[in-house]
Amino acid sequence: MTRIFLIGYMGAGKTTLGKAFARAMGLTFVDLDWYIEERYHKTVRQIFEERGEDGFRELEKRMLHETGEFENVVISVGGGTPCFFDNMDYMNSVGETVFLDVDVKVLFRRLKVAKQQRPLLANKTDEELMTFIVEALQKRLPFYSKANYVFNGERLEDRRQIQQSVERLKELLNL
Ligand code: S3P
Repeated sequence: MTRIFLIGYMGAGKTTLGKAFARAMGLTFVDLDWYIEERYHKTVRQIFEERGEDGFRELEKRMLHETGEFENVVISVGGGTPCFFDNMDYMNSVGETVFLDVDVKVLFRRLKVAKQQRPLLANKTDEELMTFIVEALQKRLPFYSKANYVFNGERLEDRRQIQQSVERLKELLNL
């Protein structure tokens, strides 16, 4: 039975890599944010607005435990998921965890064009966005570094790179 969690900051490529990797391995792909949105018929943004971040984190934990029972699955979790409650220990206890490590400059470039759907980033200027990423990473790295594996997620810019990254991940996980 295979159960792999992809963790890392927003923009690290968890969904891009997770989807391609699951397809290549014949596994089911689950994106935790999408799962939450489907279960609650609301966007993550709406949930943040209605329940605040604390309310979102409670619900995220509950949904993590629900998806954590699925088998033969690749689950990409939200950037904050590993950093609340005992979520990181939980993921390590039920599956393998892979931290997608990506340089701050690359994260900034990716998130600059994809910040609107992310409630923590929307409406930030470039300067605010950069500062926010740097500070958040400092706080989150101690959690991310509890992952079983570290994988460089910088080469995910086109189909060829994604394919190569899938192969590298297979090797890393011995699959
Ligand atoms: C968050 C990351 C988002 C989403 C929410 C909060 C975070 O997921 O769960 O907006 O705290 O880093 P992605 O990492 O998939 O963007």
